[in-house]
Amino acid sequence: MKVLVVGGGGREHALCWKISQSKKVDKIYCAPGNAGIAEVAECVAIGAMEFQKLVAFAKEKEIDLTVVGMDDPLCGGIVDAFEEAGLRVFGPRKNAAILEGSKAFSKDLMKKYNIPTAGYHNFTSPEEALAFLETATYPTVLKADGLALGKGVLICNTKEEALAGVKTLMVDKQFGDSGNTIVVEEFMTGREVSVLSFVDGKTIKIMTSAQDHKRAKDGDQGLNTGGMGTFSPSPFYTAEVDEFCKKYIYQATVDAMAKEGREFKGIIFFGLMLTANGPRVLEYNARFGDPETQVVLPRMKNDIVEVFEACIDGTLDQIDLQFEDNAAVCVVLASNGYPEHYEKGFVISGLENFKDKTDYFVFHAGSKKAEAGIVTNGGRVLGVTATGKDLKEARKKAYEATEWIHFDNKYMRHDIGKAIDEA
Ligand code: AMP
Ligand code: GLY
Repeated sequence: MKVLVVGGGGREHALCWKISQSKKVDKIYCAPGNAGIAEVAECVAIGAMEFQKLVAFAKEKEIDLTVVGMDDPLCGGIVDAFEEAGLRVFGPRKNAAILEGSKAFSKDLMKKYNIPTAGYHNFTSPEEALAFLETATYPTVLKADGLALGKGVLICNTKEEALAGVKTLMVDKQFGDSGNTIVVEEFMTGREVSVLSFVDGKTIKIMTSAQDHKRAKDGDQGLNTGGMGTFSPSPFYTAEVDEFCKKYIYQATVDAMAKEGREFKGIIFFGLMLTANGPRVLEYNARFGDPETQVVLPRMKNDIVEVFEACIDGTLDQIDLQFEDNAAVCVVLASNGYPEHYEKGFVISGLENFKDKTDYFVFHAGSKKAEAGIVTNGGRVLGVTATGKDLKEARKKAYEATEWIHFDNKYMRHDIGKAIDEA
């Protein structure tokens, strides 16, 4: 089989690596890819939003399966474009990717189908939002309705912050049209867990749990980022939590989407908060998490291409999804200054240390080939993952492996997975 992966970050590197393990696959292309992905796939210089070029490429190369990693193309209808051209593709259609693409939609869906989540109100006019916030309880949470690179969520401790937040999102439109509608949501506290799942329209199969670290600095200080590291499984995702989510959240979401005429096929990523009153859905994503994928896929036993095909064909009920009884930790090596200002173009050394190892991985997020070698090319540069018999061993190994890599400007958090000491 020939497979095309759309995207070019750490998540897509982990996807390409996992696809390369499949017995069914003899050639992988990745558009646009990056310098690390180039080790397992042929990179193609087409952007993820260039649907017609991607369709033409898939036809020309006779691609058997296309897998889309990123939210923007999914919400923009890339799956519809491929299906219209008669091509096989894994991911939700535009009318289902709205589960991630519109927070107002997902909140209304959860309310209608009694799926546990924070209380909320949607607003399309700044005046009405401002009036509501005069008498709201604080802290409160403001969310831009649409995609905002994970930055459209404002936690407001006071009324003044909330009023300024409405201006930022709805009037100044810092996130463009994403802020035309906002969700004002009840503030919740608790541990966060990421649960990824495969869905074939009717059946849902849950992958192992993971936890992300979104803030830039140790101790969850600093600005929100795309994710500075992950561990899997989450020791806080207990059998009791799993039972609750299976009863009230997972299948309920899939059934709700089907009832709405928005059959969901692909990945649903449940961002959960474990509150004192039980698990609540913080958000849905319609794709693999980044960097959750970098700890979940190294633990997955199945041939992932078989699972993708079962989702497309509606036969996921026949798949026995299995994960190793081990653990994984991913530490992101970033450019100092990320997520604000940072320099790039520095030579990366030490990548060869990961060759031929089965328990250490280096997934590239922002790198490119230059004359001097492979150089840094983004805020997040690499994700160093190690597996181990338990979380402590995986964490020790991942931090050891971060020392094998050198580049000017290298920055990382030193407390990824620290929470497991409290479990
Ligand atoms: P989201 O993009 O919806 O996952 O929000 C980003 C982050 O904001 C989450 O990972 C949480 O840390 C935080 N957050 C979102 N919604 C709430 C909420 N209702 N209460 C407390 N924190 C929240
Ligand atoms: N790690 C969070 C996300 O992928 O949205």
